[in-house]
Amino acid sequence: MGLGINMATNGSNNIRVGIDIGTSKVVCLIAEYVDHELRVIGLGSQTSRGLKNGVIVDIESTVSAIESAVNDAELMSGKQVTSAFVGISGGHINGLNSEGVVGIKDKKVKVSDVDRVITAAQAYAIPDDSQLLHVLPRDYIIDQQNGIKEPLGMAGVRLETKVHLVTCNRNSAQNISSCMKACGITVEGFVLEQLASSYSVLSEDEKELGTCLIDMGGGTSDVAVFQNGAISHTANIPTSGDHITKDIARALQTPSMQAEELKKKYGCASSSIIHENETIEVPGMAGRKNKIFSRMALASVIEQRYLDIFGLIKQKLNLSSLENNIPAGIVITGGTSRMEGVAQLAEEVFNAPVRIGSPSGLIGLSDILRNPIYATAVGLVLYSQKSQEEDHMNYLFMKDKNIFNKAFRWIQNNF
Ligand SMILES: Nc1ncnc2c1ncn2[C@@H]1O[C@H](COP(=O)(O)OP(=O)(O)OP(=O)(O)O)[C@@H](O)[C@H]1O
Ligand SMILES: [Mg+2]
Repeated sequence: MGLGINMATNGSNNIRVGIDIGTSKVVCLIAEYVDHELRVIGLGSQTSRGLKNGVIVDIESTVSAIESAVNDAELMSGKQVTSAFVGISGGHINGLNSEGVVGIKDKKVKVSDVDRVITAAQAYAIPDDSQLLHVLPRDYIIDQQNGIKEPLGMAGVRLETKVHLVTCNRNSAQNISSCMKACGITVEGFVLEQLASSYSVLSEDEKELGTCLIDMGGGTSDVAVFQNGAISHTANIPTSGDHITKDIARALQTPSMQAEELKKKYGCASSSIIHENETIEVPGMAGRKNKIFSRMALASVIEQRYLDIFGLIKQKLNLSSLENNIPAGIVITGGTSRMEGVAQLAEEVFNAPVRIGSPSGLIGLSDILRNPIYATAVGLVLYSQKSQEEDHMNYLFMKDKNIFNKAFRWIQNNF
């Protein structure tokens, strides 16, 4: 965006920018990579009104929220944002597992063999209105030996891969691009929001052992299951914090704004931890008198919605036989994870250990950025760094493979 003053743009290759266009807020986060550290230099956050359940429904107000968030981050950092990694979410996202198999040409796996097997795994009929977002390798198998993370250089005759493919609706992605273009920003890459959040809240151990990440925002609850270090399942529930606020407004007959306040101040997702005699004063609708409710009544409304969301997620995990394959348990992040009692309730539903995931991985502003509402924005910056570290020539094709693989490929191609 033009600020009318002389500023360095983020074309210089040590600046990383993530823009999270959420249902509740738009965040622009700028970090600088210096001395092997990512230091936050700019943060802008603006209330968002142009999205419904994670999808843009009003271009004009979305553009204005992005402009405002980017402006604040630019002013703070003294940099001009010209490109960014952007989060994408919503009911139009589809995740599915696919496989590919090829013969190894010279009995030793080369870059070209890996390229061919990944291409083979993408041989899936993507509907005309969709586009491929990610190809996330889960496993390589050489001559029936599975569990190979890095196949390059290994001997064999048959190379197989298992991948998780993520597709999105073409128009939804196009709408995000148009909003960014209107702000003078090029989309360097779209990143599935729960994939971005996983970079900032999950440990390598959790991903390796098996864990389920739930990013509960304002409009959507985004799910990603990790096994053996890679994503094996993604899902999206079009319900989250905004629906809880609406439930409260309806049940306690109070305006939405007051319902949102009551939710954050007195809300609890687990009615069993509330004292029976606690009461709250609830503002009446349209000039009506305030009413006194028990805090238990508020908690029951909230609990029911969390139970519905967790129930749907449990069903999806069950359908994919994943429920008993996540020994590291569940990690919940996003603004809607901040409610008291969420972890307790989720532990009861999933019968698994649950923790609330706060983002980390960047230096600076940590007192602000440790809030789960910033999980995606912080993750986008970390994702951007990972992409930057990859071989630039192969980057577009290799987007989601590990860094070692790319470094190896670059060496093979250049020497
Ligand atoms: N302390 C809190 N207790 C309960 N809910 C909270 C709290 N703080 C924020 N929230 C809720 O979190 C939601 C916003 O979360 P977040 O900022 O992660 O959403 P978003 O990323 O904008 O939306 P989405 O990812 O769904 O598009 C709102 O519904 C808000 O009411
Ligand atoms: Mg979000």
